Amino acid sequence: MINETLQKAFNEQINKEFYSEYLYLAMKIYFQEQNLQGFVNWFDVQVQEEHAHAMGMFNYLNERGGSIKLEAIEKPVVEGDCPLTIFEHVLRHEEFVTSRINALMDVAEEVRDRAALSFLDWYLKEQVEEEASVSGVLATLRLIGDDKKALLMLDKDLAARTFVQPVIG
Ligand code: FEO
Repeated sequence: MINETLQKAFNEQINKEFYSEYLYLAMKIYFQEQNLQGFVNWFDVQVQEEHAHAMGMFNYLNERGGSIKLEAIEKPVVEGDCPLTIFEHVLRHEEFVTSRINALMDVAEEVRDRAALSFLDWYLKEQVEEEASVSGVLATLRLIGDDKKALLMLDKDLAARTFVQPVIG
């Protein structure tokens, strides 16, 4: 049976992962409106990844005999009004998620739940990858500046991103 404090922390993180899915869905709308289909694809993959992150914890809590509590998902607010500023928001958001995963691991450590810590290791590594991939796009957007042709080339690159169902834990 999972510790009650840890169970609460897991439920909060499930909510944050669903919020991430919702936030990226909201960002996708901006790119749809700009007809940047490669960016739309990038956010489609991001949405699916966040869903997988939420469900990974959902399934784990169930496996551990915990009680899953779904709370309201906050209204997503997209900060930014161009690809560059929106990706700055993506990076800020991922850094926030990383800090929440670390906080969740702190709780697992406090209650000495080694199984949960080992499960959460996957999320920690995933956050390193997420931050790196977003930083990569952001660096390219900074180079691009106002060059529309270069932006379309990046859009073409982002169209190649595909979703691979992760094996979590
Ligand atoms: Fe689920 Fe992008 O962190």
